[in-house]
Amino acid sequence: MTDNSKTTDPYCNRAEAFEAFDDIPTNPNLSKTFGDIVNLRYGRRDVLRGALGVTAVTALFGTSALVAADQAVAAAKGSYDFSEIEAGVDETHHVADGYDADILIRWGDKIVADAPDFDPNNQTAAAQLTQFGYNNDYIGFVPLNDAGDRALLCVNHEYTNEEVMFPGLGRQDKIGFTGMTKELVEIEMAAHGGTVIEIARGADGKWSPVLESRYNRRLTASTTEMSISGPAAGHDRLKTSADATGTKVVGTINNCAGGITPWGTYLMAEENFHGYFWTDNKDADGKAILEGPEAASMKRYGVPGGWYAWGKYDDRFNIDKEPNESNRFGYVVEVDPMDPDAVPVKHTALGRFRHEGAESIVNSDGRVVIYSGDDNRFDYLYKFVTAGTYNPDDRAANMQLLSEGTLYVARFNEDGTVDWLPLVHGEGPLTAENGFNSQADVVIDARMAADKLGATPMDRPEDVEPAADGKVYVMLTNNTRRKPGDENPANPRADNAFGHIVEISETDNDFTSTKSTWEILVKCGDPKVTEVGAQWHPDQSEAGWFGSPDNCAIDADGRLWISTDQGSSWAKTGKADGLYALERSGELRGKSKLFFRVPIGAELCGPKFTPDQQALFLAIQHPATDGTKNYPGFERDSTFEDPATRWPDFADGMPPRPSVVVVTKQGGGKIAG
Ligand code: FEO
Ligand code: CA
Repeated sequence: MTDNSKTTDPYCNRAEAFEAFDDIPTNPNLSKTFGDIVNLRYGRRDVLRGALGVTAVTALFGTSALVAADQAVAAAKGSYDFSEIEAGVDETHHVADGYDADILIRWGDKIVADAPDFDPNNQTAAAQLTQFGYNNDYIGFVPLNDAGDRALLCVNHEYTNEEVMFPGLGRQDKIGFTGMTKELVEIEMAAHGGTVIEIARGADGKWSPVLESRYNRRLTASTTEMSISGPAAGHDRLKTSADATGTKVVGTINNCAGGITPWGTYLMAEENFHGYFWTDNKDADGKAILEGPEAASMKRYGVPGGWYAWGKYDDRFNIDKEPNESNRFGYVVEVDPMDPDAVPVKHTALGRFRHEGAESIVNSDGRVVIYSGDDNRFDYLYKFVTAGTYNPDDRAANMQLLSEGTLYVARFNEDGTVDWLPLVHGEGPLTAENGFNSQADVVIDARMAADKLGATPMDRPEDVEPAADGKVYVMLTNNTRRKPGDENPANPRADNAFGHIVEISETDNDFTSTKSTWEILVKCGDPKVTEVGAQWHPDQSEAGWFGSPDNCAIDADGRLWISTDQGSSWAKTGKADGLYALERSGELRGKSKLFFRVPIGAELCGPKFTPDQQALFLAIQHPATDGTKNYPGFERDSTFEDPATRWPDFADGMPPRPSVVVVTKQGGGKIAG
């Protein structure tokens, strides 16, 4: 159990504080598996900017890069056509010259025509159920017509920041959530989940919400009934007093990134679900006393996290009363945005862990492969391969695909290969004598199964994006708790404050491959600071290097875009979070350019391009919260009354509002050429 009193000081909001406290690894495999392995492939000294050895340059960028580095790299033309903006931090957002970045929808905005106007001083759960939720993260885009000027936007609402959301509260974790009433908790629950909303492009090329659309709906933590599918459906460990069948659950929480399937459904990844569970059973130090058959599993998953007061008012979130409820979260949820009445499905076949996202691709044989990181320090990278095949003419059948298949976890080897290890009951160590009595146990305790298989502990796997050419990009955001001696080949830096990006090459473009190869695309951080050990293209610009890669996108031209979430540690780079265009091939491989940056305290989520690449949707999450103590001239925690920025309204009395921004090129045309 998190001891709230010890977690708050260095952090500027509760979510930051708890996430950092979560640094305590729950992975029991840590130090023994790779403790004596050093990075044999790309040693730190070989890859510093300006000090690249021949071997390292060749390995990283190809022989052509040697020539380029020696001659006129700067003259090489990149694949992104825009003028980079300057890095920095201030109260608003910035986009490259020649582009507009317009607010599309904000927290509290109506999603149906008869919703009440947003009134931040008189919030109610009933109003929030009809308004855009808080902390927009994943953005999915589902076209509604061939012209591409009508579409459904599917947006996750990951979590809430009560100190800037509600008047008069301040940080509640500092005071044992004593200010959190039942009514406020119900508003929080209504602000979680997701939104499906129709948007349309006008004659001026600008997008706007269509409030009269029949598709518009909110999905929430408290009101949306869901079904449970796959190997764990109906298992005793999923049964609660409210659901004797173990097949139905109310709500979804901490929906971070996600995906749109090839058949147009919306996948919501349940990430830090553990944080919502509560106990009153604590020892003298305030730590949870875990008892009963779920104790070992709860320990491995960090349940109960105690990040919210929900368990004070709703028994579902109190593990003393409902010890199985937490087994019903931590999944990938499939929503049919085309049918507002459709019951969302939690897919247990894809495993239970802190799913960051769920991006998919159709393999050449028709099977569908979904990649997902488990965002915790020292946890793992997974992929799921469906048993059945995608049929473009049978959407109903496609919607059964995620119920059956094989879940794999990655083991990165020092010879540059990666083994995808199947989590299949009865195979290898996944047997009853090791506590796995069925495939239900394997998926419910996917982390523990992956421990047994010897998966590679990673530096917080965030978004994972497959590209059509067989490459897969893995964002590893940071891990300052990795100690010298605990490095492994794919996570080669101790005290990894800035993260890195791994590029997997699935063998012969076969995404179902169980043996593939990998490279490190970039090691993030300031290339000028030797101790950081960063690895970029030798001609990296000052504005374009970044820290803490989090979300990513592949655009219609196959180009890679990276968005960052540095949290309160943004001052380590001196840069606000942003969207970066990162060359992934050619002479400039490993070179990054800054396209957009967020206001103080925000992170950048989403990024989603329209198929015609003429619009880019960005989710600006929690403006004014992260690291405001380091913001010159402000230097204190933000509150509702006194935020570091009132973005995007900049109106007296209006709090900062998480919002979706849509970027278009002035005069029309493709973004970045
Ligand atoms: Fe919700 Fe791992 O970011
Ligand atoms: Ca994220």
